[in-house]
Amino acid sequence: MTKPKLFIARKLRDVVEARAARDYAVILNPEDRLFSPAELIAMCREVDAVLPCHSERFSADVIAALGPRLKIIANHSVGTDHVDLAAAKAAGIVVTNTPDVLSDATAEIAMLCMLRAARRGAEGDAMIRAGKWDFWSPAFMVGRQVTGKRFGVLGMGRVGQVTAERARGFGMEVHYHNRRRLPDHLEKGAVFHDTLEGLLAVSDVLSLHCPSTPQNAGIINARTLALLPERAVLVNTARGGLVDEAALVGALTTGRLFAAGLDVFQTEPGGNTALAALPNVFLLPHIGSATEETRDAMGFRALDNLDAFFAGREPGDRVA
Ligand code: DGY
Repeated sequence: MTKPKLFIARKLRDVVEARAARDYAVILNPEDRLFSPAELIAMCREVDAVLPCHSERFSADVIAALGPRLKIIANHSVGTDHVDLAAAKAAGIVVTNTPDVLSDATAEIAMLCMLRAARRGAEGDAMIRAGKWDFWSPAFMVGRQVTGKRFGVLGMGRVGQVTAERARGFGMEVHYHNRRRLPDHLEKGAVFHDTLEGLLAVSDVLSLHCPSTPQNAGIINARTLALLPERAVLVNTARGGLVDEAALVGALTTGRLFAAGLDVFQTEPGGNTALAALPNVFLLPHIGSATEETRDAMGFRALDNLDAFFAGREPGDRVA
């Protein structure tokens, strides 16, 4: 039987590429180049399936140019904001994602962001590296303790729930806002707020875990930042588009916000130079899911979805 032709748009882990090569006629990207939209279209027109990451944008224009051969976009990501799902559906292209398997890794990065921001870890590290640690006193580099504080989760999906569990481990009281209240066994004593404003008012640490949609673009902005308690900490491991970065710079500069830990930015790769210039910001280059275990699991999950599709079954993680 002829193997379906699969374009894997970025370099994946060797075990994942080996399994893909066993079952598909694969086109790989060994140099891990980011293809332009025109190159992406040209590659996708020649294959039955594409396995992209969030770095490959499938806008309505790109989807309209893909031609009749491509049947499925099997994403190597839980987020699908890089794909115009309505356009894919209209074009009859199936879209899948990789939920669950990255929740632990992303929750770890959220904790790292929280602790390094609240306890001034980035500042301390930079000071020693620059050879500038020449003083110690009880008043030196005093941060904010998270134990006993309120941990606000905006978006209590899978990643939000696992992150909340980790925050409980630090003795934090979990609060959340979500479209729907969770059942008791998932809520685990967390306090539900039916409005965003209600959650913001009590969040000593606010951690973002909602998907990026046109409706919640810039949901964290000058107005909403002002609703947080004085000297709160913001953690974003979800998507940069959720935050108005100019407003965030303002709140961090005045000290209204104590610190921020950010793994995602409006512009990626690259980040935000105004944020990078502030001492009270801890920055990471979108590595929430970047562990060996998780990257293997994401790759296998994307292949599971492809296998189901080409076997004539419904892929488990179909989103369009
Ligand atoms: C995701 O899976 O959405 C992560 O952001 C990595 O792409």
